[in-house]
Amino acid sequence: MSRAEQGRLTVVPRPPPDQCGIILHPAGHTRSPAMHNAAFAALGLQAEYRAFDVPPEGLADAIQSMREREIRQLAVSIPHKQTVMAHLDEVEPTAEQIGAVNTITLRENRLVGSNTDWLGAIQALERETTLPGQQAVVLGAGGAARAVVYALCERGAEVLVLNRTVERARDLCQELGAKGFGSPDDLEEIPHSVLVNTTSVGLSSDESPVRATSLRAHSVVMDAVYEPAVTRLLRDATERGATPIGGKWMLVYQAAHQLKLWTGLDAPLDVMASAFDED
Ligand code: ATR
Repeated sequence: MSRAEQGRLTVVPRPPPDQCGIILHPAGHTRSPAMHNAAFAALGLQAEYRAFDVPPEGLADAIQSMREREIRQLAVSIPHKQTVMAHLDEVEPTAEQIGAVNTITLRENRLVGSNTDWLGAIQALERETTLPGQQAVVLGAGGAARAVVYALCERGAEVLVLNRTVERARDLCQELGAKGFGSPDDLEEIPHSVLVNTTSVGLSSDESPVRATSLRAHSVVMDAVYEPAVTRLLRDATERGATPIGGKWMLVYQAAHQLKLWTGLDAPLDVMASAFDED
């Protein structure tokens, strides 16, 4: 007979859920809470993931309040991935080299910054191809490009960086050890087997960062843009006989790595991917 049936109900006090979340600005719509909360529920974890709108001038306070409120886990998004590094106690070497942090973990009262974006990029690409020895082209030279270029170099691909502002491509190329740089218009002349768009071109619009004629059959084309799910670039790629990979996968895999970092548990990928689709 249970205690309730005996009329002596014992309420076991439960600790409040672990607080975690993402800091970004403007908050807009982010699918991270949906993905992480679905994963927490599937794993039976008492944790709550929220989006915090933190403008640049509020970053220092937000990090301080993370310490005070013992928020154990924070994801970092635009525009804080680079500036947040100065506020942490430690930045892991990979994140240091990429020059961006997308994950903060409170470990023994120390805030440690890591980067899982590059791991997300590798895993997303490896859904369709192997990377060593590939001729890869990365479009863009911002924070997302840095993670993708690092990932491709790390996996032994030969990487060219093409960006509207060519000097930024040159700097990134030299810093991360890519093979060369240029402008997106150069793609027509560049044989490649892997192409990754990290620019914002195509975000909520029907534009592509490159001409359809410069896309190659049998190549793999990944777009970091995930809204719309099928961008103009991915549509053009499919029409040219290339294999498309949607930006959703980079996001799902980087989130899965964050979860692993924070909890030590393997992420339920299917659950997170479904939550992404449904949000
Ligand atoms: P993120 O951290 O998301 O990479 P970012 O640092 O602002 O964001 O970088 C945005 C990238 O998209 C840059 O490579 C940018 O090119 P520039 O360096 O020339 O600014 C690229 N980008 C944005 N809008 C673009 C456009 N209309 N045409 C071509 N490239 C564009």
